[in-house]
Amino acid sequence: MNIPPPQTITVALGQRSYPVWIGAGLLGDHARWRAALRGRHALVISNTTVAPLYLERVAQGLHGLRWSSFLLDDGEAHKSFANVGRALEALAALGATRDACVIALGGGVVGDLAGFSAACWMRGIDFIQIPTTLLAMVDSSVGGKTGVNLPAGKNLAGAFHQPRAVVADIDTLATLPEREYRAGLAEVIKGAAIGDEPFFAWLERNAAALAARDPAAVPEAIARKVRYKAGVVARDETEQGERALLNLGHTFGHALETAGRYTALLHGEGVAIGMRLAARLSERLGMSGPADTERLQRLLENLGLPVAIPPGMDAAELLALMRLDKKNSAGELRLILWRGIGRAEIVGGVSETDVLAVLQGP
Ligand code: NAD
Ligand code: GLY
Repeated sequence: MNIPPPQTITVALGQRSYPVWIGAGLLGDHARWRAALRGRHALVISNTTVAPLYLERVAQGLHGLRWSSFLLDDGEAHKSFANVGRALEALAALGATRDACVIALGGGVVGDLAGFSAACWMRGIDFIQIPTTLLAMVDSSVGGKTGVNLPAGKNLAGAFHQPRAVVADIDTLATLPEREYRAGLAEVIKGAAIGDEPFFAWLERNAAALAARDPAAVPEAIARKVRYKAGVVARDETEQGERALLNLGHTFGHALETAGRYTALLHGEGVAIGMRLAARLSERLGMSGPADTERLQRLLENLGLPVAIPPGMDAAELLALMRLDKKNSAGELRLILWRGIGRAEIVGGVSETDVLAVLQGP
């Protein structure tokens, strides 16, 4: 079969720059990603859903190395400190030295935990991201945010630790459940909504192709989102400013996810609803007009994403959850809003009355 060459996007961070390869057949392109491994030891971290599907193909690229695997049970609940401890024990059992490499094979749960484990072992060893969900390809595998959840909250323990390479093999999306695929599309739309209006217009034109997982449109969408995120990360690696924009819809979305006990909504679904709420709040504050909100809503709906708060969720409870967001300071709400498509902004001092009105609205 004639496989087109992958697209390569570089996350430009000086000596720590790395490639993000996006294309078909990359798992089997061992020579390409194996070159990113410097030492003789590798630990593949995956989970019990992904490993039976793809571990063998990765393993074929590890011959000649001392390697082993550590598999998480499936689910967000397993992105835990206890499992970081187990991953570090697996590295110890392997005899991993300073030049060992962790390979994250899976979605964002696996990638975040594997990256954090790599950051901890001997104060930081290499890791490679092999994302297998759309969300992980377009968001979590790129940019070096790693970490785990604590009983006190999601992603509370973590480190910035950049991978050596990201291997986004779009063939792996063939087994991804439809709902997970659509949740990943929310993160694609998010990038365009924040800072890339031409990309947003492209998504509008290609919505049907993306919904049908068209083999040309999907890698193009991934590449455009990754290119946008790579630029933001290169300018603001540790989120001193601009990188916070990547959280458009997140303060609303996290509140919705928490209110749904992390089972009612996937992260991307929470972000989809949250982006529409952020657009409506921007409108209410006179920052943007209804046409932008309508375009966003139409695109989300065309891609099968929810836009309304699920029935039974209480506006006052959601507001209380939003107050706990890490971005808030001194009792005021700090949110990512927009002045229209592609023009997101960090806005402080947002009144709770306005937020509540939006939460109570249609
Ligand atoms: P996930 O890792 O839970 O994967 C979703 C589901 O798909 C799981 O059941 C998984 O086993 C399954 N799966 C994965 N690949 C598959 C495949 N190819 N075929 C079949 N099934 C497959 O969820 P996610 O949406 O990938 O990631 C969510 C996580 O990412 C959250 O923990 C979130 O906090 C984190 N995140 C991190 C960042 C970051 O910058 N580090 C950004 C966004 C989200
Ligand atoms: N997902 C937000 C970030 O990477 O900064």
